[in-house]
Amino acid sequence: MTILALETSCDETSAAVVRDGKILANIVASQIQLHAEYGGVVPELAAREHLKNLLPVAQSALGQAGVSMPALDAVAATQGPGLPNALLVGFKAAQAVAYALQKPFIGINHHEAHLYSPWISGDPPAADFSNFQPNVSLIVSGGHTLLVLVESELKHRVLGGTIDDAAGECFDKTGKLMGLAYPAGPVIDKLAESGNPLAYAFPRPLIHDTNDDFSFSGLKTSVRYFIRDHPDLLADRQKVCDLCASVQAAIVEVLVKKTVRAALREGVRCVTASGGVTCNRALRRDLERACRKQGLTLRLAEPGLCTDNAAMIGILAERKLLANAPLPPLDEEIRPGWVLA
Ligand code: KG4
Ligand code: ZN
Repeated sequence: MTILALETSCDETSAAVVRDGKILANIVASQIQLHAEYGGVVPELAAREHLKNLLPVAQSALGQAGVSMPALDAVAATQGPGLPNALLVGFKAAQAVAYALQKPFIGINHHEAHLYSPWISGDPPAADFSNFQPNVSLIVSGGHTLLVLVESELKHRVLGGTIDDAAGECFDKTGKLMGLAYPAGPVIDKLAESGNPLAYAFPRPLIHDTNDDFSFSGLKTSVRYFIRDHPDLLADRQKVCDLCASVQAAIVEVLVKKTVRAALREGVRCVTASGGVTCNRALRRDLERACRKQGLTLRLAEPGLCTDNAAMIGILAERKLLANAPLPPLDEEIRPGWVLA
């Protein structure tokens, strides 16, 4: 089965061609530079940029895959959640292509697709999901922090999520307080390498709560007060590195502890993670350690599939088609507030 998938829910324009669980092409045009000067994603600019980029990105995905439009068996796109005008661009384009080709159209929940990205590649590869295991999945990005119990393929239940800021937002906003460029997550990751994570003590919000919710706004506020009270610190590169390492340690410890605790409580033997923050090396390393200590298998999405991409949309669409899951009618609309249940 050959599927063209489009993803335009936020600030990445992406098109992928997948076939039989394999990615033939996965093109991502990132808008990071465009939004950097505003310190965050500007929804109207994102939508216009998707309009500009979508056709070339889709053409280059089809070209790289060596697939012509008539050879497609289905077309998929992100239906939600996401920025309304951004979603509309990819979703309506995909519906139009499906209609013109008279092929099935599959609208995909972006978060459900994130649950699949750790299984697409990696060691051992499981593109056909033959080694799928029930797992607790951490989805951690600039907009979301979710813990999901994935009981079987296509069957999942959200255990908890952030009650305020997402973890990526916490990286980005605390980085902004330090004067770092947007998005600050990768910069903090880099600077933290030369810093001491024990240099400054920041709160680990909700770490001892038995529920699976997260909260990062209090941590952000305590970094704000800390910088207000120690303004000279920002002029000292080593101290900035120490600050980055200390903030990162607080975020990572909460994510790791709560994810592993949920997995043990739910009785699954596997943990997975995806979303932009899963690129963070400290998070990858500490999850690895914690899972090994508890005898849990860990599957991390590879960095290129952690951030938003159309390959995960196409892979999930294919699984749904193979499982004969009910497809939305072709006149379905976007669902910007679509909450994963
Ligand atoms: O999944 P994503 O590309 O977009 C959405 O937010 O949906 O995630 C972007 C987020 C940003 O907050 C960015 O700072 C964070 O992921 N991020 C990182 C790293 N790479 C990306 N955070 C910490 N360390 C990183 N290496
Ligand atoms: Zn995402």
